[in-house]
Amino acid sequence: MLPARMSFDFDTPPVREGTDSQKWQKYAGRDILPMWVADMDFKSSPAIVEALQRRVADGVFGYARPVKSTTDAVVEMLERRHGWRIDPAWIVWLPGLVVGLNVTAQAFAQPGEEVLTLTPVYPPFMTAPRNSGRVSVRVPFVLNAAESRWEIDWDALEAAVTPKTRLFFLCNPHNPIARVWRRDELERLAAFCVRHNLVLCSDEIHCDLILDPALSHIPTATLGSEIAARSITLLAPSKTYNVPGLGTSLAIIPDATLRAQFVRATAGIVAEVTSLGFAACEAAYRDGEPWRQELLAYLRGNRDYLVDFVARELPGVKIVAPIEATYLAWLDVSALSLADPIAHFEKHGVGLSDGTFFGAKPGSHVRINFGCPRSTLERGLARIKTAVQQARG
Ligand SMILES: Cc1ncc(COP(=O)(O)O)c(C=O)c1O
Repeated sequence: MLPARMSFDFDTPPVREGTDSQKWQKYAGRDILPMWVADMDFKSSPAIVEALQRRVADGVFGYARPVKSTTDAVVEMLERRHGWRIDPAWIVWLPGLVVGLNVTAQAFAQPGEEVLTLTPVYPPFMTAPRNSGRVSVRVPFVLNAAESRWEIDWDALEAAVTPKTRLFFLCNPHNPIARVWRRDELERLAAFCVRHNLVLCSDEIHCDLILDPALSHIPTATLGSEIAARSITLLAPSKTYNVPGLGTSLAIIPDATLRAQFVRATAGIVAEVTSLGFAACEAAYRDGEPWRQELLAYLRGNRDYLVDFVARELPGVKIVAPIEATYLAWLDVSALSLADPIAHFEKHGVGLSDGTFFGAKPGSHVRINFGCPRSTLERGLARIKTAVQQARG
């Protein structure tokens, strides 16, 4: 349910057609509603917009470094929201999380060495190692149908370790299966990494988008000093506050040796964060909380609408487990027996993300982004309904 009075407007779709939006340019000139990339169709928090306006009014845009108030905003948010007290010296600023995944692969594995991850997963978890000649090793999740839960296949994970395994890429909360990892699961994963002497790269970009009020995010590096000393945590305000185009992310690396190795791998090839990026990040973490709370309420409403619509109106489409976090849903469309689900849904006016990029079997899954005004979601789902009816003959 939405709060009785919303202070922020999530209902009015911003004009994005004909703009620099990647999401909308993909289908320019075609009547296809883009519901693919993880970029929401909402204006960002007014606190961020105002901070950017003030920074632009300065008119000076030299090479930037974070000022103390920016670092303080990150440190205070992590302690207040997630109970994680970090030393500001642990922060390495980055222009994107995908950059962080690529740098991590290069810094902590040699060409031909292996990076483990759990699939389906956000595609760069698999492509980042391959970009630099490292090997991506995937361990598929298993569905615990009785409990409607995706789970880690611990035996398969153990069996996947070889003398060449160096790194583990974790997505917490997980895109696309929308799981929030529980403490016992994280502890078991941490013990696994310690036992096999792996560096743990924990992408926590979705950590401030927990939809299930009974759950909370546990930063992997807070589980204990042993795992903290081998962890790279990747964070950003981009998903939560809808500022992915501003390119501001951070790696938090408590161990000085690991941090130096990581920084060395960035030398000369990783661009600096801009002054606008720092301004947005500071405003998001310091002043964006009222907006985030209303966003979460709105997204919960969209999630419930989506789940209900799929169950009632889309025979042959399944959401097999609760959407605990993110604004992304993983739809099982295998019962529709479509050779190319993406082309089929595009033909009916909706642009979704192709499950095969996340490691799913061809024809089995698509991902939908429900971070949009309710009217957009309703329009997209009505089109999907027609597409499903057509597929079922
Ligand atoms: C798990 C995850 N990591 C990273 C990113 C992208 O990060 P960036 O745009 O900072 O490279 C996304 C975007 O959807 C994501 O879902």
